Amino acid sequence: MTTTKSDHSSSQPGPAAETAAAAAPAPLPIIQSDKPYSPGLAGVIAAETAIGYVDGLNGRLLYRGYPIGQLVEKGTYGQVAELLWTGEWRKSARLVPAVIPENVLCAMHELPDHTHPMDALRTAVSVWGAWRRPHWPPTVDQARELVAFAPSALAAFHRMRQGLDVVPPNQKLSLAGGFLQQLTGKDPDPAAARALDAYFVVGAEHGLNASTFTCRVIISTRSDLASAVCGAIGALKGPLHGGAPAEVVSQLHEIGSPERAEKWVREAIARGDKIMGFGHRVYRAYDPRAAALRKVAEGMADMADWLDTAVKVEDVVLRIFGELKPDHVIKTNVEYYAAAVLQGVGLPPDLFPPTFALARMAGWSAHAIEQASADKLIRPDARYVGSPETSVPDFNR
Ligand code: ACO
Repeated sequence: MTTTKSDHSSSQPGPAAETAAAAAPAPLPIIQSDKPYSPGLAGVIAAETAIGYVDGLNGRLLYRGYPIGQLVEKGTYGQVAELLWTGEWRKSARLVPAVIPENVLCAMHELPDHTHPMDALRTAVSVWGAWRRPHWPPTVDQARELVAFAPSALAAFHRMRQGLDVVPPNQKLSLAGGFLQQLTGKDPDPAAARALDAYFVVGAEHGLNASTFTCRVIISTRSDLASAVCGAIGALKGPLHGGAPAEVVSQLHEIGSPERAEKWVREAIARGDKIMGFGHRVYRAYDPRAAALRKVAEGMADMADWLDTAVKVEDVVLRIFGELKPDHVIKTNVEYYAAAVLQGVGLPPDLFPPTFALARMAGWSAHAIEQASADKLIRPDARYVGSPETSVPDFNR
């Protein structure tokens, strides 16, 4: 590795250090790598994957080669999860909601009332891992079990926090339909179950995003699937990643009507605020997931008024970005229309991020399996920009 001496080697240590330095050998200079630093790891290739392909320039997303739009139209989440895990398209593949282990219910009972459902889901996965003790390397069976258990656990937490009884899973339903049934205690509307299933398909995988990267880092240490998914949930919790759809709802609520959008958006950008549901690290074109979910949302009853406002506000936001940020291509991202679908199926906004996590669990676990087969510890370097080597002052003399 080519190295350079840091500029820090010329800075002056304080008087106390000078006294100590008299007795100690001269400190070595800081040695810097001349490798390029990429803030946010943007543009850095950190893995090889056969799972998903994100084509940011052309607004294309493929799962194992299949375009996302076709998967939403022709597939179910059960089939898509199986495709991500195994690479095979199996017509008969199905995922059904699983029974929640008693110890997970007990742990969730102990959570304080103000617990965010994202924290509850992370806790549930952690307790599941403690009892199941999934071993390294992660397997497709572990993935199937985790993905089928998580919606039941989240629904149970939502019931408990309202003081309601936990609803046992109906294993005749799909995972999405079962989730709705366990949230409400009622048979799900088939159209709502299909819309949520489409959302699960769209959210299942997206290359080396922050949470998937977190998952792969943890698995690369030969840690287990539950630990990796807990870490991924933590990464997804941040508003810049998975927290956006709930904020899209409050943003549209604040804007109120399309006529107010122009002023609101200009003021928000002038303050340096981020407009939720827009912009993406990779896409420089319209996010294909947003296009797929917009279609799903357009087919949902009772969403017409909300969508009408959302579409008009979107037009205004895109026009203003084009005018104020001509050097950046900022388009609508998946979260904008995810907000419509999640709201349309009746979820409260604080369940949006953990519901995204339920969908992404298929992708996380597929990446966990793939990373384990590569079996290479992920360990990047950092450029040191701190003090030069200096002696510890001898306070005791
Ligand atoms: N609102 C306002 N300005 C924006 C937005 C936005 N939504 N997105 C990007 N910009 C601006 C930035 O301020 C920056 O402008 P500047 O260079 O004049 O300072 C420029 O566009 C480049 O943006 P970056 O932040 O460098 O882009 P980055 O790739 O780091 O960020 C991100 C992508 C975090 C998604 C960003 O677009 C954002 O915060 N969006 C809003 C939150 C959101 O919708 N998140 C969901 C993303 S999809 C997902 O995670 C599933």
